[in-house]
Amino acid sequence: MKYQWKMLPLTLLLMSGLLAGCGAGKTGEAEASGKETANAEASDEEDTVSAAAAPATITFSEEQLHKGNLILVSKDYAYDFDANSDMDLVRIVDAQSFSYPVEKEEYQLSAKLIPQLDAMIRDCNEAMGTDYTSVSSAYRSKEYQQGVWDEYEELYGENYVKSYVAVPGFSEHHTGLALDLGIIYSDGSPGTFSESENAEWMAKNSYRYGFVRRYAEDKVEITGISNEAWHFRYVGQPHAAYMYEKNLCLEEYLEYLREHTSPENPLVYTAGPQTYSVFFTPEKEIVEPEGNYTVSGDNARGYVVTGVVQ
Ligand code: DAL
Ligand code: ZN
Repeated sequence: MKYQWKMLPLTLLLMSGLLAGCGAGKTGEAEASGKETANAEASDEEDTVSAAAAPATITFSEEQLHKGNLILVSKDYAYDFDANSDMDLVRIVDAQSFSYPVEKEEYQLSAKLIPQLDAMIRDCNEAMGTDYTSVSSAYRSKEYQQGVWDEYEELYGENYVKSYVAVPGFSEHHTGLALDLGIIYSDGSPGTFSESENAEWMAKNSYRYGFVRRYAEDKVEITGISNEAWHFRYVGQPHAAYMYEKNLCLEEYLEYLREHTSPENPLVYTAGPQTYSVFFTPEKEIVEPEGNYTVSGDNARGYVVTGVVQ
């Protein structure tokens, strides 16, 4: 079935207004609330037509602008800690479905991405014949990020820290959706992830699990962060697949959605077994999409609605 929006022709809307004036009665309420479904008030044919004229709508809160898989947290956009005070952090070692190394037992990530992370690490290890892919950093509070900043500044100087560490309050690590990968050999000694074949595999395959390699060499001008082979960000599907195929960083992808999509003109894209319909809206209220959909703010200008095409 094709993906459709609950849009009604103008003629039907006008007709229902006329019918309401003839005594349908409930139409005014339906239009005012904007929440009535097509047949909710139907008791005869006139009512059916008039009630159908008020499509269901959804409204987005200001808080929602700063929540979701697609929020842009960057040098220009701070993370909104208050809006995300209900985030679903879990300790990775408690939630992982098999035992891969996590450099510190207390490291946490958003619970929703753990199954994808598990599958990605398992498949990478299997493909590479290794069992040492590790998580070397995960969720960071603002204070933790300040500690990272101070440590790296002392070790490597101001230029390095500005290239590789986000200003506290502006790090993706605050979101619980970003992590750094590493290597820990079975004797406990650390390896260099960026020089490993695992890094190449992750760069090419992470999108299958909903992750993107966030800071690439050819995007430094846009992200303001130097090439980081180890830093991955969960954005979910189909966004990761589309960004990978088109070689877009998150800033570019969001700009593409803002410029080229709308409820009437979504991006329809197939990732794995599923086709999705994606659009951006700056509006706080829209006609409700049909079927299953999720909403993410972009942390800047509006909302990305991701629908599943039946
Ligand atoms: N290393 C990344 C940019 C961070 O500090 O968030
Ligand atoms: Zn990182």
